[in-house]
This record gives sequence, C-alpha cells and structure tokens, in this order.
Amino acid sequence: RIGRKDIELGEGDKKGTRVKVMGRIHRLRAQKQATFITLVDGYGQLQCVLTGDLTKTYDALLFAQGTSLALYGEMRKVPEGQTAPDSRELHVDYYEVLGASPSDEDAITNRVSAQQNQWDAQMLDNRHLVLRGENASALMKIRAAVERAFQKVYDELEVTKVSPPALVQTQVEGGATLFSAPYYEETAFLTQSSQLYLETVIPSLGDVYCIEKSFRAEKSLTRRHLSEFTHVEAELDYIEFSDLLDHLEEVICRVIDYVLANPTIAAHLKELNPTFQKPTRPFLRMKYTDAIDWLNAQDPPIPNEEGNPHVFGDDIAEAAERRMTDIINRPIFLTHFPVEIKAFYMKKDPADLRVTESVDCLMPGVGEIVGGSMRMEGYDELLEAYKKQGIDAKDYYWYTDQRKYGTSPHGGYGIGLERFVAWLANQHTVRTTCLYPRFMGRCKP
Ligand code: 4AD
Ligand code: MG
Repeated sequence: RIGRKDIELGEGDKKGTRVKVMGRIHRLRAQKQATFITLVDGYGQLQCVLTGDLTKTYDALLFAQGTSLALYGEMRKVPEGQTAPDSRELHVDYYEVLGASPSDEDAITNRVSAQQNQWDAQMLDNRHLVLRGENASALMKIRAAVERAFQKVYDELEVTKVSPPALVQTQVEGGATLFSAPYYEETAFLTQSSQLYLETVIPSLGDVYCIEKSFRAEKSLTRRHLSEFTHVEAELDYIEFSDLLDHLEEVICRVIDYVLANPTIAAHLKELNPTFQKPTRPFLRMKYTDAIDWLNAQDPPIPNEEGNPHVFGDDIAEAAERRMTDIINRPIFLTHFPVEIKAFYMKKDPADLRVTESVDCLMPGVGEIVGGSMRMEGYDELLEAYKKQGIDAKDYYWYTDQRKYGTSPHGGYGIGLERFVAWLANQHTVRTTCLYPRFMGRCKP
C-alpha cells in the first residue's frame, strides 16, 4: 500500500528499501531527464521517478491517467528543497502494466477536474470516474470516518444497534413521499424512516439505533434532498425532552471529536473546510414561536414561502431556514413546532397543546440535519392522531401495541448522514457526500 510508513528511506549513500508498489497513475509529467508519476491507490499518493533508460523505453501510449501499474524500486527521501507526498519518492527500476487506460482521451482528468459542478448531467453520468478525484475520495473517507464515529459513540453510550426492514407497509413522514414496490401479490413501500420499528424494540433492548437507508420520493430538486439517503436513527427509553436534546448534543460533539482525532481525516477536512470550528456546547435553543418572531424582526424581514411575514403554523421553508442559520452561524436546536406541521406520532407539549416536543437541529450552510421528538404515549391519543392524518390504524397494530402493553416516555431522532457530512466538509450539496446520488430524474449509474 502507498500509505505504508514503515519503509526505510534511502538518503545520500544510504540505500532505501526496495519495494513493489501497485496503484494507478493520477498525474504524469515527462521531463528531459526524468518522468514523474503520481501514483494513487486509495490510501495515499506516491511520487515515482523514472530516469535513465526507463524514460526512453516505457510505452508512453500505455502510461496514461488511470493506468494501473506495479512499480519496483528503491524508496528514497526527496532531495532538499523539493516537495512530494510524505517527503519520499520511489526510484523506479522496473515496472509492469497491470491495466492500461486509453491515453488518447482525457476522460478522467476532464471529468474529475470539473468537480465543482455536480448538477451537470455529464458529471453525474460519469460519477464512477469522478469518484477517483482527490476531493471525492477524501469525502468518501470522511463519510466512512463519520459513520465509524457514530457507531463508536453509540457503543460507548450502550445504545444497541439493530437492523429494521426496508420493505414496509406503513408511512412515517407522510404519504406524499412514499415509494411503492410490487411485493409478490401485494404492494410494499420503501421505508421513510426506521423510527416506528426502533420504538417497538426499546422494551427489550433499551436504547437502540440503526444506520439504514431511508427513501423519499421528494418531488423537488434541492441541494439537500435525495431520494435515497443514509439515516442514523436512535430511540431512547424513559427520557424527557431535555434529555433528548442533551443526548443529541453529546452524540454530535463526540462524533466530531473522533473524526478530528484521526490525523488523515482531519487533514482532509482542513482542505475542504479550512474555517471549520467545532461547535461549542450548549447549542443555541430556540422555540419555533421565537424563530417566527426572529424571522419577522430581521431587516428586511425574512418572508414565508408565499412572500408574506411568517405567522404561527407556517412551515419554516428551506430558504428561510438557511438564511437563519447563516446569520446566526452556529448550531441551533429549533424546538416546539406546531402540531399541524409535524408528524402524527409527536408528543404534544403539556404546557402548550398547540405545539409538539420536537426538535430540528440546524447547521450553518445546510440547515436541518436532524429531526426528532418525544413520542405520543397514550393509546387513545395515538388512534385519534391516525384518524386525523387519514392513516388506516389496521396497518399499524404492531406500533399501536407499543402503547397498549406498557407505554413509556420515550423519544428519538434521525440524522441525515449526507447532510451531516455536507455540513462538516462544507459541501454545496449532499450529492457530493454519497457514492451514487439518487434524486428525481436520476437513478444511475
Ligand atoms: O426530519 P425527518 O423526516 O425525521 C424522521 O424521519 C424521523 N422519523 C426520524 C426519527 O425521529 N427517527 O428526517 C430526519 C433527517 C432530516 O433532518 C435530514 O437530515 C434527513 O433525515 N433527511 C434527508 N436527507 C436527505 N434527503 C432527504 N430527502 C431527506 N429527508 C430527511
Ligand atoms: Mg424534518
């Protein structure tokens, strides 16, 4: 592997270790006396130098960007005054071509270098090559580190991992964004959230979490909506609303600590988001009603979707939310949303029955990255909520039973992994934070 550090480097008269390194050509620069290759392998980059006869005998037609090679030679410290990854270079004395790449097209370079424009259909068609670019591979490493950190933090907090089904018969976040799929003689839906299943297992397992795909047929194209996204969801038993907020803050901060503790990942983040500041606790806590007042009090006021001043009951739409997070410029727990604009399962605030014990966590640059709430505890109340939303209670018997057989004060949340990474790595869109983005009009490659 290119990233291996335990290799003796030659310097002056001292011989370095002779090694065999396999990787692909990322860049190639041919000079009179020497040819410099930047070799990559997913673990790092290595400068490789071909000199003497080798510069004349290698087949330039085979040495193109993407070409897969085995290079043999001595590993040496780079001469004073020159820079190279890890300050070392391979002095090649022998090579094998493992897989050539066509040298007559700049396929990869052209497609990778234009990374900023992720909306471009050609770029999206070539996502498999775009992923070879430096930014894209750094982002995928960051994403993996974030996922690993979540697992580690949940382990530490004794939250048990479970794996709920993706093919379901119930909606969680409204019927409008359900994907359906033929399922033998029936119809099934692709899950919008694993929340309801998580709720059913807290009696046996205590606090639980999952990292699964959720699916939403989002009918608008925005930079933060995907049709398929990775959902980090947790459900906590015997808690109050304030415990939920404290826990969420704890998880987010610990995850960031773990991610930044990894030097390779921290270096990638520094490149992508040089001004990133770890959020300070406590996060700002703002009630929905105060947010409405805040939006109206701006100069000029930030209007609702219809262009009017915000009134109680209005959704705080993406544009307004984004303005708000950009101005306040720190994480916000936006809480106590009106019953009417939130999902059926949310618990009402006993102090004000117009609103729910709900929270959205908003981050600068992205807006909402987390949605959570306390859950309705009462059996009759839940049946009433189904009715109000036009939900057939029959399909939800297993969820309703949760309230019938020993209900409890409990709550949880869902974090969009792509949005979390977009915030951390300062990405314009969530499309760059997943391997192969899915959104309206795009289901390939
Ligand atoms: O706010 P949402 O819809 O909440 C739920 O699904 C709850 N049932 C979760 C729970 O309590 N267990 O979604 C939660 C988060 C959002 O804040 C967002 O980060 C992400 O999931 N999300 C999406 N990410 C990308 N594309 C989409 N279409 C998303 N929809 C939600
Ligand atoms: Mg939400």
